[in-house]
Amino acid sequence: MNEAADSPGRRIAVVIGAGGIGGALAEALRSAAEYDEVVVLGRRSTPALDLLDEASIAACARWLAARGAPELVIDATGILHGPAMAPEKSWRELDPATLAQAFAINAIGPALLMKHFLPLLPRDRRAVFATLSAKVGSIGDNRLGGWYAYRASKAALNQLVRTASIELRRSRPQAICVALHPGTVDTGLSAPFRPAGAGAGARRATSAYRARRAEGGGFGAIFRLPRRASALVDAGAQAAARQCACGAIPGGRRRTSTRPIGRRVPG
Ligand SMILES: NC(=O)c1ccc[n+]([C@@H]2O[C@H](COP(=O)([O-])OP(=O)(O)OC[C@H]3O[C@@H](n4cnc5c(N)ncnc54)[C@H](OP(=O)(O)O)[C@@H]3O)[C@@H](O)[C@H]2O)c1
Repeated sequence: MNEAADSPGRRIAVVIGAGGIGGALAEALRSAAEYDEVVVLGRRSTPALDLLDEASIAACARWLAARGAPELVIDATGILHGPAMAPEKSWRELDPATLAQAFAINAIGPALLMKHFLPLLPRDRRAVFATLSAKVGSIGDNRLGGWYAYRASKAALNQLVRTASIELRRSRPQAICVALHPGTVDTGLSAPFRPAGAGAGARRATSAYRARRAEGGGFGAIFRLPRRASALVDAGAQAAARQCACGAIPGGRRRTSTRPIGRRVPG
């Protein structure tokens, strides 16, 4: 297993998946200038990282380890729909291939990211591994039904993160392993499910993250406050973030989900 060459003077942040939210986070991290290097990894990066190919994840981790120990790793990958995949409205639509694809990308992929990237976190200072889950992954909060594959894969992700966070604190007591629920954000993932005119409820990824900085936060500042890990998401989403949680365990504590945020959009 890789261990990163630790050079505390040099701060490295990593964003995996440069989609709507990941791209905006990388942009915000770069403009915040809190990190010396903001690395973006994904299917089109060099080296390339494909969640469906563990060897590519391992190769990226080795590549990163040679650069130093990342203090922040954000996994912003995920899938809700695709050419041969749509959220199910009924059990009649359950399809083994769709279920397998959702689990492969939303749960198994992030699990492999934890396998290869958690060992890179520094042992002697605060570090964060955050993965984007979804509120619909909450079992207790499921009042609408439907979206079997997405919901179940995110529920699995939450449990994987919870379990890894317990293991992580044995070797890295200052580190945080957390799943975050971003609230509905205007990206390609949510586009087909937002009713016309739902702009007020769905934050545009880039402008929202810029707004967060404009309010004086700065991502680095947020990341220094591990017990408010939900604040990793943008200011516009903070109401949703308060409800969030998907198993955030800073220092072993678990945040809980309380209220629903939307009825017709992913969350
Ligand atoms: N948008 C929302 O309203 C919302 C709400 C709740 C939760 N979330 C969660 O937030 C996360 C990010 O969502 P988003 O809205 O930013 O979606 P998005 O714009 O569709 O981005 C998804 C990202 O996942 C990457 N990805 C998919 N399959 C991959 C694979 N096999 N290997 C590597 N990367 C892969 C995509 O890579 P490519 O660029 O290569 O395609 C893309 O960068 C997801 O986990 C989603 O479930 C979003």
